[in-house]
Amino acid sequence: MAMASSKLVLHHGSILVHEPVDSRLRPPRGLLHFHSLFATWATGNKAVQNSSVRWRCSGCCFQFRTCSCKWKRLVGSCSTSEFVIAHDENYGNKQVISLSPRLYDYILKNVREPEILRQLREETASMRGSQMQVSPDQAQLLAMLVQILGAERCIEVGVYTGYSSLAIALVLPESGCLVACERDAKSLEVAKKYYQLAGVSHKVDVKYGLAADTLHSLILNGEAGSYDFAFIDAEKRMTRKYFELLLQLVRVGGLIVIDNVLWHGKVADPLVNDARTVSIRNFNEQLLDDKRVSISMVPIGDGMTICRKR
Ligand SMILES: C[S@@+](CC[C@H](N)C(=O)[O-])C[C@H]1O[C@@H](n2cnc3c(N)ncnc32)[C@H](O)[C@@H]1O
Repeated sequence: MAMASSKLVLHHGSILVHEPVDSRLRPPRGLLHFHSLFATWATGNKAVQNSSVRWRCSGCCFQFRTCSCKWKRLVGSCSTSEFVIAHDENYGNKQVISLSPRLYDYILKNVREPEILRQLREETASMRGSQMQVSPDQAQLLAMLVQILGAERCIEVGVYTGYSSLAIALVLPESGCLVACERDAKSLEVAKKYYQLAGVSHKVDVKYGLAADTLHSLILNGEAGSYDFAFIDAEKRMTRKYFELLLQLVRVGGLIVIDNVLWHGKVADPLVNDARTVSIRNFNEQLLDDKRVSISMVPIGDGMTICRKR
């Protein structure tokens, strides 16, 4: 196996090996039990080149005080918290937090979820497809972006029972409007009930049908360049199509946010090549070179990319 392609991930004391790992790349056994250490080795990384030397200090369980190995530095920087540390020198030894359930609970406790959204979330929890709903922290970020932008005209592609659309509608001004595209009548009924309960129905223009048709008709209606904000959260293989249509509809300086860009981490796994994963991976790759927008990929929920139209 080429050492260059070896990938080793340590997480919560477990070891996930995508390809056979050279024994020299294994960390001292005792250290595997430390919480959430994360390491990636890549070509040219000094850690790989020096790995045989480094791992030879596996006696450091006994000589830990005198050992100057990288693992000691790693462990020394770990508290009992569940961290992931991207310790690759190629990334400047930045410490990058990864979400453990405990840390995610903490984040959720720090979300200001409006009561009406909590009720909608709880009602949706028993419904088929409830895992599709954005998380409370994601909804809060979407609402924050809408507020920062001072958005008045928004579009959502993929409403489901309305959690993200309601979060947006709640922060829109009274004169604001959200075009909400959804093809499933049953889930739309729940969404409409909650728009009503929240007193925001007048701000939401529900478009029942295929989202691409709705977006085309908005363009034909002369609405290009008139929207401030768009959120894409529907069929993943259609993301590129929605993005192109929304890029016409959104004004310069407006935002297009795309959900599920990390796709449960599958985008980064070369062994996963199903149609949805490949389509999201390709979309991310193309977006990186797309000079029409500024981009920021945010590891929140299942990953969201924020695009600002130039
Ligand atoms: C991931 S869910 C949306 C979740 C929603 N944003 C929320 O936070 O609750 C995706 C939704 O997109 C809808 N959808 C999928 N393809 C669509 C299409 N071509 N046109 C309109 N809606 C579509 C599905 O019916 C589903 O309700």
